[in-house]
Amino acid sequence: MTSTEHGRRKYDALADRYEEIYFYVADLGRDLVSYAAPPPGARVLDVGAGRGAVARAALARECVVTAVDASAGMVARLADDHPEMVVRQQDAGMLDFPDGSFGVVTAGFLVQVLTEPETALAEFHRVLAPGGMVALSLERQTVGRLGWLHDLNREYFGGGNGSADEPLSPDRLDELLTSAGFATPERTLVKIPKHLADPGALWDWLAIQGVPEALDALPTGEAVTFRERFFRGAEEMHNTGGITLEFAATLHTTTRRLPPGSAAGEGYH
Ligand SMILES: C[S@@+](CC[C@H](N)C(=O)[O-])C[C@H]1O[C@@H](n2cnc3c(N)ncnc32)[C@H](O)[C@@H]1O
Repeated sequence: MTSTEHGRRKYDALADRYEEIYFYVADLGRDLVSYAAPPPGARVLDVGAGRGAVARAALARECVVTAVDASAGMVARLADDHPEMVVRQQDAGMLDFPDGSFGVVTAGFLVQVLTEPETALAEFHRVLAPGGMVALSLERQTVGRLGWLHDLNREYFGGGNGSADEPLSPDRLDELLTSAGFATPERTLVKIPKHLADPGALWDWLAIQGVPEALDALPTGEAVTFRERFFRGAEEMHNTGGITLEFAATLHTTTRRLPPGSAAGEGYH
């Protein structure tokens, strides 16, 4: 297993509202598929498919799409919404498909949440036909002008600098792809800034991340001071250039190497 029971339960709980809360994934799913540019008819496996942001975009290009996810809740919703896809509950590190079954493997915002991304990448390599492509997106952690909020979170909730919390970097992901046997990866950066109307909208964004529940667990009085300091910081940001969430992602593509002597372009279907 390349995710924890806790992780699977988290996504089960998010399944109904996932794309409503994480409003940027649909655009980035389309961006990832455009970057990979699979031809019509390509056999695409989307791993960690969630509610289908990437898989839908592949379907729109007339690919033949199989989607898998570890969360039973996500799988149930995806199968209901898309009877035209084959949908299965599977772990990214134990894919139940024969070697070389797919021309393209996609995974939107998956590798960053796995406990063992290298195990999943080895599976992606195995199920791809020689010459087939893998296309991955990785959320880029951008603090930008929200440094004050990161500091506030760290002060009240801790974390943020321990090695266990270190996010997977784009360079590290490319290294892992190369170690898994893929050709030298290519990548691009996509920025999707989201402007928020006022401090209340920023509070609502924190609320869907579970901040109010985390505040309830703090000693008496600390929730009140957190809120006061949050609204002071947000008001200042609002009055000095506005409040923007600086979402960004890197898109990574590479191919399973062809055996020596094969024609280029084989395996893509
Ligand atoms: C951040 S969401 C991304 C969903 C979707 N790809 C998108 O771009 O909107 C990560 C997804 O990966 C799934 N996931 C987490 N660990 C997994 C694993 N070990 N194997 C397969 N899916 C996993 C989660 O259930 C969730 O649906």
